[in-house]
Formats: sequence, C-alpha cells, structure tokens
Amino acid sequence: MNWKTYYETHLTTAEEAVTHIKSGDRVVVAHACGEPSYLLDAMVANASAYRDVELVHMVAMGKGDYCKPEYAENFRHNAIFVGGSSREAVADGRADFTPSFFFEVPRLFSTTMPVDVALVMVTPPDENGMCSLGVSVDYTQEAVKQAKLVIAQINPQMPWTGPNSLVSVKDLDVIVEHDAPLIELKPGKIGEIEKAIGEHCASLVPDGATLQLGIGAIPDAVLLFLKDKKDLGIHSEMFSDGVVELAEAGVITNAKKSLNPGKFVVAFLMGTKRLYDFVNHNPDVDMRPVDYVNHPFVVAQNDNLISINSCVQVDLMGQVASETVGSKQISGVGGQVDFVRGASAAKGGVSIIAMPSTVKGKISKIVPLLDEGAAVTTSRNDVDYIVTEYGVAHLKGETLRQRARNLIAIAHPDFRDELKAEFEKRFHCAF
Ligand code: COA
Repeated sequence: MNWKTYYETHLTTAEEAVTHIKSGDRVVVAHACGEPSYLLDAMVANASAYRDVELVHMVAMGKGDYCKPEYAENFRHNAIFVGGSSREAVADGRADFTPSFFFEVPRLFSTTMPVDVALVMVTPPDENGMCSLGVSVDYTQEAVKQAKLVIAQINPQMPWTGPNSLVSVKDLDVIVEHDAPLIELKPGKIGEIEKAIGEHCASLVPDGATLQLGIGAIPDAVLLFLKDKKDLGIHSEMFSDGVVELAEAGVITNAKKSLNPGKFVVAFLMGTKRLYDFVNHNPDVDMRPVDYVNHPFVVAQNDNLISINSCVQVDLMGQVASETVGSKQISGVGGQVDFVRGASAAKGGVSIIAMPSTVKGKISKIVPLLDEGAAVTTSRNDVDYIVTEYGVAHLKGETLRQRARNLIAIAHPDFRDELKAEFEKRFHCAF
C-alpha cells in the first residue's frame, strides 16, 4: 500500500483514536512542548473507560488533568521529571517518579519499561511520507519505534526539524488531524541577581565554545552577556528563545564545533512561536534523539563544551541537590549529569551549576549539610564550578577544606558567619 492510501485508511477522530487505549496500558506521551494536548484531552474525556492506565512523561508542560484526584483510579502518572502539573500528585502518592538519566530514557522503552501506546504529535508528511517529530525528538522517536500502537496528531503548526527527527507515516497506527498552536514557554524574568549570575557564567565561556543550556531565567541571563563573543555553538538537550537572538546577531555560528560543525544539535525545544519559526525547515537545526545528544561519550566529543545548569542546594563538600527540596521531588535529573560528565571528559570542557545564593533572601542555598531526604543529583566527584551572584567557586580537584572556603566566599553575606563557624568545627582550623 502506498503511504497516501495508508494515511487515508488510518485517519480517524480523536474520540475514536483514544478508544484503542486499554486499561492497564503503559502510554508514553511525547515530551514537553511536543505534547499532543488534543489527544490527551480526548483521553481524559474518555476516563471512565479505563482503569490503571500508566502515563509516562518527562517534562509535562500541559494541563496534566490526568493527575487530578478524581482520575486516581483511571490514570497513574509515572513521571521521569516532575513539573508544575505533577508535583502535588507525586507528593500525595497519586503519581510515581522514576529516576533516570535523560540519555538512558530511550533504552528503558526496550528494557524495563515496554511501551504499549505512544501518543505523539508530528508534522504533516512530506512527499516521501515522512513526518517530523518537531520540537520533541528526545525519547519520542524511540517510543514510536517501541510502541505496540502509535496514535499521532498531525499538526501543521509543528516545525520540521531535520533528517534525524523523522518517522514514517507507516509507523503511525492511528492518525488524527488537528491544527493548533504548540504549547509555549515564555522567557523567564531576569532580575539583578540573574544578571550577576549571567555575567559570572559568561566569564567562563571562551570564543568558539559549544554551549549546553538548561532551562529558565539563568541560562537566558547568561546569553545576555555573550553578545560580544565569537563563533559560539550549540550542543544541548534543549534551547529556548534566547539562542535565536544570538544566532540572528551572528554570535552563534556553530562554525568552531568539533562535532557536527555548522549545526545546532538539540533533542527538544521549549519556547515561543519565534523559536518554532526559527527552527522550522532550518537546515542548520539538527534535532536528534537524546541517547545521542546527551550521551556523555557524544557530549565529550565537543571541544570547549560549557554546560550550564541550576540546582536547589549545594553542601560544603560540593554535593549538588537539583531535584528535591528535602524529600519532596520537585523536578528530576534531566540532562544535568549527562552534560556534567560529558563536559568533564571534553577537551577544554567546563560544567557550571549556577544558582541564586538564597531562596528569596531567606534560606541559603549553600548549606553545611543537604536537607534530610534530599537526593544528590551531581556528586562531589562530578562537580566542577558553582556560580552565584557573588562569584565563581571552582571545586574540581580542590580539597574538601578548599571547596568549603570557595563556596562560603560566594554564599550570601548574611549566611557567611554561620557557614564559617561550621567550617571551623569541621576542619579544626580557622577560616
Ligand atoms: N530550599 C527550599 N526551597 C527551595 C530551595 C531550597 N534550597 N531551592 C528552591 N526551592 C523552591 C523554590 O522556592 C521554588 O518553590 P515555588 O515553586 O514554590 O516558588 C521551587 O523550589 C523551584 O525552585 P526555583 O528556583 O523557582 O526553580 P527554577 O525554575 O529556577 O529551577 C531547578 C531550578 C533546580 C529546579 C531546575 O534547574 C532543575 O530542575 N534542575 C535539574 C535538572 C536539570 O538541570 N536539567 C538540565 C537542563 S533541562
């Protein structure tokens, strides 16, 4: 059967499509802004037909209605990253959390976590019957490969993001057409603290560096201070609108990349329509699965890789908690450790964990001990640089005593005395 006939014979409505999901199925949902919200809405509307449908999702950017208490018998969310819509459900025990490095998520689908159904959103097919997974290639492409059943929303507003982002129409078992804007993430608010952090991080970025940027206001602030740099490149699990500005200004050229020169290499995108328009059919944008982009061995092939991520707490040994506040799971490891380790092995590589020194001026994020129950995300053996608005602390290769000194020097001044007292007690010497 040619692909056009296949397409027409597999086309249906969202209401009919979700009836193919069965009680007890494991459903993997496309990631972040690639979420097919139209299909999820239809599935939730059909909730009474299901019991114990497991919904596996990483950064859930949509409404997350399936996490609501009234659907506790119908759906159980299994989060690989906890976000706004799932934090309470995980904390209340109505949803699960599965720890996993991001680069290993695709492999889970062929090992521990077999996929019954993949719910995805793709572009309309090209003349060869190929569709792009657009803003979410990451684990979504592997979910399509592994799933017993693929239900796809065809959305003309999904950008086309390169030859490694494709799936065939014949990989899609149930097809629903629906034209709708993608979920957007507005740029974070950049205040004086974020600007100071941005400036310190930028001081560690040489011309020709390749960047990995995490999510939020801090990476956006870093980009503000990179306007005078030359020939920067991008190899990052994600990027947002800030990168578009630097690309259009000619600062990001990808020309000096040692791996995939000329290309923005990325696994998923979160931003506004401006970003989605920039990447659409852009021959320089090469979206790829996360088991390539985030694999530490691949990251390590990028000379001068500078990785910038954020965290919740750092203790005086340099242990970094990025995903829990005490024992409460508020996010996940994402790609933090993939890039910390990749950067560490890259020629000229540097990893930076950047954070405000306090939570709203009240709680120091540099602490003698991590809060009880906190998970260590980046270990003291992996950590390299910590940055706050008060400066840069280099930890890799430093003694525990020197690490503590370097960290206290960038703590908020209101908390330095108590940290120094802790230092003197622990190391039996004057600060
Ligand atoms: N003590 C108590 N509460 C704390 C805290 C601390 N030390 N640090 C943060 N919090 C609270 C904040 O007050 C906030 O609470 P609220 O939502 O009720 O206001 C919440 O935790 C989130 O913190 P915030 O600083 O607003 O988060 P952020 O959007 O800047 O993200 C991380 C910071 C660490 C959560 C985020 O960078 C992350 O998830 N990192 C790990 C994954 C990663 O690095 N991936 C790679 C790139 S995608």
